[in-house]
Amino acid sequence: MSGYCHRSVLLKEAVLALAPRPGGRVVDATLGGGGHAEAILDASSPSGWLYGFDRDEAAVLATRERLARFAGRFECRQGSLAEQAGWIEPGSCDGVLFDLGVSSPQLDWAERGFSFQQDGPLDMRMDRRQALTAAALVNGSSRAELADIFFGLGEEHEARRLARAIEGERLKRPFETTRQLASFIERVKPRRGARVHPATKVFQALRMAVNDELGALRAGLAAALEVVKPGGRIAVITFHSVEDRVVKEFGRTEAREYEVAGAVDVPELRRPRVARLRWVNRKSIVPAEAERVENPRSRSARLRVMERLDAAVGNRANEHE
Ligand SMILES: C[S@@+](CC[C@H](N)C(=O)[O-])C[C@H]1O[C@@H](n2cnc3c(N)ncnc32)[C@H](O)[C@@H]1O
Repeated sequence: MSGYCHRSVLLKEAVLALAPRPGGRVVDATLGGGGHAEAILDASSPSGWLYGFDRDEAAVLATRERLARFAGRFECRQGSLAEQAGWIEPGSCDGVLFDLGVSSPQLDWAERGFSFQQDGPLDMRMDRRQALTAAALVNGSSRAELADIFFGLGEEHEARRLARAIEGERLKRPFETTRQLASFIERVKPRRGARVHPATKVFQALRMAVNDELGALRAGLAAALEVVKPGGRIAVITFHSVEDRVVKEFGRTEAREYEVAGAVDVPELRRPRVARLRWVNRKSIVPAEAERVENPRSRSARLRVMERLDAAVGNRANEHE
């Protein structure tokens, strides 16, 4: 599919972290325009294999086209790694990459309804086979549900006020388009000189809710841990603190040498177990200045890398951390 143009973020850093090799297997769990997938296949020539997934059919079609020269060394499927993990032999992969969020074409194609920069239907579905749209959420959720979505997923501090205003407005006319919602939010929460559009956080939150992005991320990370072999790596690029927190929490839990009995970690109730992974870098990797200047979208990106431990040596490996 021509015209699918997405500039990959932290490309060299992610490939370096995954260290693809000839004969190895890597999963790209979020294909987008296929930029990372292409670099992984290049780096693992002549015989590295790539499993690719994206919930968006357009991304899968565009990637298949982009990777045509690697025919016989990859397979791309629509869906998420968590849904499709049964297709991959457990413990068989050298690495899994997640490059989260949306691609540029998803934002640029007005009919997908992700962006308030263009007018389109209030849609936001990555997988268009799914029934739930952003319009259904905005028009059908209770005031409290909307406030929870805006605050929990968008860190929008005026969540309650915006939810109340939307509840009143939709009685007069349901929300149907991106511009209608963005202009309404701007009226309720005027810009007052801010550079960022007042609807930015609400749009992020709705997109994450429509696609259950945090649920998909948690399930995807758990599936990644099953398909990587000991010494294999899980690399995750996040674009905001809400999703980065999920990655940190996952890594922290799996790197522990004990299980927590309930919701609260009470040291006396801990049950010993072997840690399943270790952090490769203590701090997240961020784009170099040159990339930040060249691609403003990269400015909020962070890469975190974890390594699967051999169950037998898990505890000993973590002792040296
Ligand atoms: C930032 S783009 C990836 C860009 C890609 N790495 C590249 O170099 O072109 C994110 C992509 O992930 C997809 N996506 C997000 N969450 C997903 C999930 N849980 N499972 C599968 N695909 C997902 C989106 O549809 C989007 O195409």
